[in-house]
Amino acid sequence: MSLSREQMLVEMGISPIWVWREQPGPTASDECLPPVTAVEVEKAALPSRPPAPAAQPEFSPRSVSNTPAQVMAVGCLDWPELTRQVAVCRACGLGEQRRQAVFGVGDQHPDWLFIGEGPGAEEDAQGVPFVGQAGKLLDNMLAALDIARGNKVYIANAVKCRPPGNRTPEAAEMAACRPYLERQIALLKPKIIVLLGKAAVHAVLHDDKTLASMRGKRFEYAGIPVVVTYHPAYLLRNLPDKAKAWEDLLFARRLLAGQSVPELPF
Ligand code: URA
Repeated sequence: MSLSREQMLVEMGISPIWVWREQPGPTASDECLPPVTAVEVEKAALPSRPPAPAAQPEFSPRSVSNTPAQVMAVGCLDWPELTRQVAVCRACGLGEQRRQAVFGVGDQHPDWLFIGEGPGAEEDAQGVPFVGQAGKLLDNMLAALDIARGNKVYIANAVKCRPPGNRTPEAAEMAACRPYLERQIALLKPKIIVLLGKAAVHAVLHDDKTLASMRGKRFEYAGIPVVVTYHPAYLLRNLPDKAKAWEDLLFARRLLAGQSVPELPF
């Protein structure tokens, strides 16, 4: 049964009033270049506020790194070849146990790029990201924004292969997969990137602060605005935080619309 927009907002635990204004945003380059590295990732200037308490890093530094030649090679692939290489990738141990790599799904000229953690059992079986319970919630969140996967929306993951038992991907696995994600971003040139959970934040921003301290702020990757929010699977277990995720999506939508957005006060 399909939900009305109003029902979706109720499902999200919110009923906002807003007006959608579309404006062009920045784009990434798809030139054959090495991907953006952590050092090149810049955060937008933040207003002065007391620094958030330092969080314990959840991810250790990369213990696997692709050679410059490998990174450069992936950084030159076109979409079909990138898809093919991901399908046959054995750069880390996840490739041995997956049923299939889950490349990503959606509009190849998206406004929105949502990045999750990695495929679960259902995604591994179907070859499509976010098709399980968390995916249903993600779809409802998109619908509440009046968008849908496939229409100006692309959905990808930090790692393309299912970690056994749905464990969090290890830093080495994310490092091995990172060139693919970076090339996807370069080719997709989304106007906004929404990072769903800590693994995605680590993969794109190389940052291990708490999500709570990163929400409501504008980050950048290759000139593209980046917003951080909770992973839908977390929201399924922590229903009150759905309202916070909704605030984050509204924040992202205002950034996409090119409005000057004050950062959220948390
Ligand atoms: N969780 C994710 O992070 N990605 C998926 O594709 C499915 C569940």
